[in-house]
Amino acid sequence: MKITVVGAGNVGATCANVMAQKELASEIVLLDIKEGFAEGKALDIMQTATLLGFDTRVTGVTADYSKTAGSEVVVVTSGIPRKPGMTREDLIGINAGIVKDVAQNILKYSPNAIIVVISNPMDTMTYLTLKITGLPKNRVIGMGGILDSSRFKCYLSQALNVPATDLQGTVIGGHGDTTMIPLARFATYNGIPVDSLLDGETVKKVIADTMVGGATLTGLLGTSAWYAPGAAGAALVESIVRDEKKVFPCCVSLDGEYGQSDICIGVPVVIGKDGIEKIVDYKLNTEEQAAFDKSADAVRNMNGVLKELNIL
Ligand code: 2OP
Repeated sequence: MKITVVGAGNVGATCANVMAQKELASEIVLLDIKEGFAEGKALDIMQTATLLGFDTRVTGVTADYSKTAGSEVVVVTSGIPRKPGMTREDLIGINAGIVKDVAQNILKYSPNAIIVVISNPMDTMTYLTLKITGLPKNRVIGMGGILDSSRFKCYLSQALNVPATDLQGTVIGGHGDTTMIPLARFATYNGIPVDSLLDGETVKKVIADTMVGGATLTGLLGTSAWYAPGAAGAALVESIVRDEKKVFPCCVSLDGEYGQSDICIGVPVVIGKDGIEKIVDYKLNTEEQAAFDKSADAVRNMNGVLKELNIL
């Protein structure tokens, strides 16, 4: 099993690091355009192997896609991250050109790869990747909802003072501060609905904190987060390479599901060896469906920028 991570910045390197520790592949290639950067990160990760007890070989390369040949999964993290005050959408002009180039290079050497997109604005970058590669929709997966759901469960665990791993919670819709939809009605503490355990104001605050979860970190760190985004990418890859068939909210191409078409946006899906194996229907109520439709409108507007920029 060979996995490539494109972009050796904070998110890419963390993702590679977590995947190596979990031994998700015999080989992980980390690629970056900055001379020596991926090589350095890979070597640093390899020097933890005896300390942490893993046998995955991590290698770094500078812009040489031939070294990624035969990868089964490729994680795309390339592009510039957010600075404080920026939205994910502000990155589109620069990141779209980068992601287009990366996707084409990946497929030249790994024609059968499943592509996991993390670059922002993630919903639009996933749509772009799907369109320019022409890949079947099961093989292009955007990672946003897993991260947002993890943040949702983190804030819920703080509000309830219970372990986050005892919580179930899902965030659907776009991966944007105003487009994501934490589904409070489906969130439970071991099966007990959280809205029966928390007052309405607290639930509202958890939802609001979740929605700006990434922006809060960008404000604190001066750049966007990496531990949770990297780990969320690794969780998604794990479900693919181990054929776990876990249900995660991921950004996927919809063809009438959830009332939407010609868009990539976050919905719960089953992830296994073929990538997206099934879209799960949560049977949204009227209010949730209205929020989802509004989110889809915003994502669709953003996708329109690709045409304006002559990228699609
Ligand atoms: C985040 O939400 C990087 O989009 C990512 O932190």
